[in-house]
Amino acid sequence: MKKYGFGIIGTGMIGKLHANAISRIENAKLVAVFSKNYDNACKMAEKYNCKAFSSMEEFLNQSDLDVVSICTPSGTHGEYAVEAANAGKHLLIEKPIEITVEKAEEIISACLRNNVKCSVISQHRFDDSVIQLKKAIEDGKLGRIYFGSCFTKWYRNDEYYKSSNWKGTWKYDGGGALMNQSIHYIDLLLYVMGDVAEVYGKCAALLHDIEVEDTGVAVLKFKSGALGMIEGTTAAYPGFYTKLEIHGENGTVIIENDLIKHWSIKGEENLHISEAVNAETGASAPDGISIVPHVRQFNNFIQALKNDTAPLITAEDGKRAVELILAIYESSKKGSPVLL
Ligand SMILES: NC(=O)c1ccc[n+]([C@@H]2O[C@H](COP(=O)([O-])OP(=O)(O)OC[C@H]3O[C@@H](n4cnc5c(N)ncnc54)[C@H](O)[C@@H]3O)[C@@H](O)[C@H]2O)c1
Repeated sequence: MKKYGFGIIGTGMIGKLHANAISRIENAKLVAVFSKNYDNACKMAEKYNCKAFSSMEEFLNQSDLDVVSICTPSGTHGEYAVEAANAGKHLLIEKPIEITVEKAEEIISACLRNNVKCSVISQHRFDDSVIQLKKAIEDGKLGRIYFGSCFTKWYRNDEYYKSSNWKGTWKYDGGGALMNQSIHYIDLLLYVMGDVAEVYGKCAALLHDIEVEDTGVAVLKFKSGALGMIEGTTAAYPGFYTKLEIHGENGTVIIENDLIKHWSIKGEENLHISEAVNAETGASAPDGISIVPHVRQFNNFIQALKNDTAPLITAEDGKRAVELILAIYESSKKGSPVLL
C-alpha cells in the first residue's frame, strides 16, 4: 500500500490539526514540516518523527513528499502554493484559497501547468448532515429549491485579534467575519444552491477595533432564480451557532452547528437525525473544532490521487467562495448591488 508523504507549511493552530489528522490516516505519513521559524518546525517534526526545514527549497526537494498542506495566514497561501505546484507537489490549501480572485487563479493555473491536484479545505462538506442534505437535493426530494441562507453567529474576543499579527487585517486575512469565519457555511450554501448571480451586502466593524468587518450581511439572488441571505459576525458573545437553512417546494432542511436540526420533507418528516461527529464547532474559539471532517477531507484527497479523479472540493470551488465574499465587500463599499 502506497503511503502518501505529506508536508506542512505553517505550524500554528490549524497546522497542528493537520499533523494530527495525517497521523490518523493509514496511507498517509507526515514527512516534512516547513516554518520560517526553524524552532517551530523542529517542535512539530520531533513530535511526528519527520524532518524540519526553514528553507522552502530544501523542503520541496524531499523525494518522498507528495502533498503539501498550506496552513499559513490566508494572504500568503498563493506564494507557497505556486512554488509547491511548480515543484510538482499536490496541494491541500486551508480556506480561504487566497484573498483575491487573481491569486486564486494563479494557483489554479500553476496546478494545471504542473499537472498536480489541489483541494481547498472546507471540511464541513464532509459532515454527515451536509452529505445527507446534498444527496436529498440531488435525488430531487426537496423539489425546486427557492430559498437558501446561512448564518455564522460566532464570538472572537479582542485578544484573538490583538494577539495575532495577521487576523483582522486586509493584507493577510483579506476580510473578517465573512472571509475568515463565515466562509465555511458560505461554501456550503454555494455547494447546495449553486452559483450566485447578484448580491447586495453591508459590512462593518461594530464591536471590535479592527480594520475588517466583524459583522456582515448580504441578500443573494442565485443563478437558479432562488433567493437567499448570509449573516456573519464574530461579535455575538459568547458565541452561538452556524446554520444552513434550505427551503424547497417539498420541504425544509435546517442544519445547525453541523447537525440536522429539522428534516421536514413531505413524506419523511424527521427521518434523518445525524450523529454528533463534531461536538465542537469553533463558536467561541478557533481551536474548538473537531478533527473528524478534516480527516474525511484528507481521505477524499488521497482517493483522488489514487484514482486520478477530482477531489470533492476543488480549487475552483475555493475561488467561487472568495469571489462571492469579495462581491459582498464591493457592494457594501459602493452601496449598490454587484453582479457576479
Ligand atoms: N479549516 C478550519 O477550520 C480553519 C481553522 C482555523 C484556521 N484556518 C485557516 O488556516 C490558516 C492558518 O490559520 P491559523 O489559525 O493556524 O493561524 P496561526 O496564526 O495559528 O498560524 C499561522 C502559522 O503561519 C506562520 N506564519 C505567519 N506568517 C507567515 C508567513 N508570512 N509565511 C509563512 N508562515 C507564516 C506562523 O508562524 C504560524 O505557524 C488560515 O488561512 C486560516 O483561515 C482554517
